[in-house]
Amino acid sequence: MFSDRLIKRMKKARSVAVLTGAGVSQESGVATFRGEDGLWKKFKPEELASVEAFVKNPVLVWEWYGYRQKIILKTDPNPGHMALADMEGIFPDFALITQNVDGLHRKAGSQKILELHGNILVSRCMSCGTKSDRIEPEEDGMVPRCACGGRMRPDVVWFGEMLPQDILSQAFEAAERSDVFFSIGTSAVVHPAASLPVAAKEAGAYVVEINPERTVLSGALDETIIGKSGEVLPRLVSRLRESGKEA
Ligand code: OAD
Repeated sequence: MFSDRLIKRMKKARSVAVLTGAGVSQESGVATFRGEDGLWKKFKPEELASVEAFVKNPVLVWEWYGYRQKIILKTDPNPGHMALADMEGIFPDFALITQNVDGLHRKAGSQKILELHGNILVSRCMSCGTKSDRIEPEEDGMVPRCACGGRMRPDVVWFGEMLPQDILSQAFEAAERSDVFFSIGTSAVVHPAASLPVAAKEAGAYVVEINPERTVLSGALDETIIGKSGEVLPRLVSRLRESGKEA
């Protein structure tokens, strides 16, 4: 399953960066966005995931986020998340960059996480910017309010919004200094996240994709490992340990 080239590169690597997408949480029971059972097949992003949608119908938007929060609160990290938490202890410089808003990497024990698209379990006041990790809304049909009176919104990046610029810069820096870069469980169509594997490759990293299917990026990367992250990643960590790679 793993090429000699990859194992050699990983044994020598000091710096490893990983980009994850919704596919990493698929085996935990969290729906992906695209593909047959994807969320964007059933729901319209423009009605649920934009500032315009929120201004037009905040109750509907909160119902959708409240529904997803409830699902996510019941889910647990899978062996793929666990293996990535283990990898953080193996390499002196390790960056975990995620597009996921489900917080499952943190639950699995990863510590250095760059959340590009925010966190669905956090809300933010649209007036004063105060953040809260209280689960909102407490009842359906409610739009939660901040102590200042402003409306609370989910602390996630919506369509048409900029990503948090400090986190994005840190992600590009990590990609560009990495010896090995992984793109895992992402369709690699949403930018700027999808530019990270390319930036890593241009800066000289060995870039590997892990996905049950090839993606638009596969042809531009060093290798694609076809498989589920919850199966491939634990095997990769075992293989590294067998090869004597320890922190
Ligand atoms: P997508 O739903 O676009 O892609 C999920 C990818 O995971 C696909 O390529 C699947 O083949 C793959 N996949 C499915 N099961 C897998 C498994 N068990 N192991 C590994 N891979 C698996 O999700 P993202 O690429 O994360 O943005 O989507 C990017 C962004 O689009 C999201 O962050 C979200 C969405 O609109 C915002 O909310 C801002």
